[in-house]
Amino acid sequence: MSEVTVLKIGGSVLTDRSKERTLKLREINRIAKEIASVGVRDLIIVHGAGSFGHPQAKRFDLDVPGKCSYETIIIHNVVKELNRIFIEKLAENGMLVVPVHPLNCTISREGRLENMMTDQIRLMLKNDIVPVFHGDVIMDRIWGRAILSGDQIVAHIAKCLNAGRVGIGTNVDGIMDGKKVMDVITPEEFCGVKKLLKGSKDVDVTGGMASKANELFKLAEEGISSHVFNASKKGLVINFLSGERNFGTIIRGD
Ligand SMILES: Nc1ncnc2c1ncn2[C@@H]1O[C@H](COP(=O)(O)OP(=O)(O)O)[C@@H](O)[C@H]1O
Ligand SMILES: [Mg+2]
Repeated sequence: MSEVTVLKIGGSVLTDRSKERTLKLREINRIAKEIASVGVRDLIIVHGAGSFGHPQAKRFDLDVPGKCSYETIIIHNVVKELNRIFIEKLAENGMLVVPVHPLNCTISREGRLENMMTDQIRLMLKNDIVPVFHGDVIMDRIWGRAILSGDQIVAHIAKCLNAGRVGIGTNVDGIMDGKKVMDVITPEEFCGVKKLLKGSKDVDVTGGMASKANELFKLAEEGISSHVFNASKKGLVINFLSGERNFGTIIRGD
């Protein structure tokens, strides 16, 4: 296996977060084409839930600890709809993709991912298959169930597979200090930068940029760098997959 690349596409990129269960179909098409056009090997894709999960989870109070209920399954099913549509578009562009539903292979403890089965992921990569994960509701040892963000999945899988490259496509130009994009953030700066980070402006149950960056800072402490960039801007997914570095924010792990 060569170097693993983990690419996350935010739910804010693939869906209209102002309206429940609303796709940005043109964007889904464009992103699928961009990913397929580069043809990176050993690629793992993760996507967020956007309006296929956040507003529903908020309505059912799934963002507070609680037992697994019928509503939990509704959220799982709605985010799977988005996963199916994204996968279909990737497949239409010639990619060999399979869905990976975290509910079936992952458990958490008090909201933190504790264990994920990854042997099947390694075998998929070995067979040139691209696994496509999504944010999900999963079984939690203590709470009963918990919401698992795509960002937590990225950090976990990148660490388990010792990823060479980690890209986080979102709907802003990177980690912002006011109106300015921060080009690079080094471990010495993590503490100070945390003060600049807030949640999402949309209905959100996973903490927006604050939680996203937190996961990436922890990943950096394990020695793995990541790159936050605007996947809503045409061409930037291609640029990331092609190895360009002169855009967005690099979170330095070394
Ligand atoms: N310092 C910051 N830099 C960038 N984005 C920030 C910052 N603080 C808060 N945000 C918010 O976080 C959002 C990105 O997180 P989120 O909405 O969860 O996106 P995604 O769908 O990619 O997970 C941005 O659109 C922005 O509103
Ligand atoms: Mg988010």
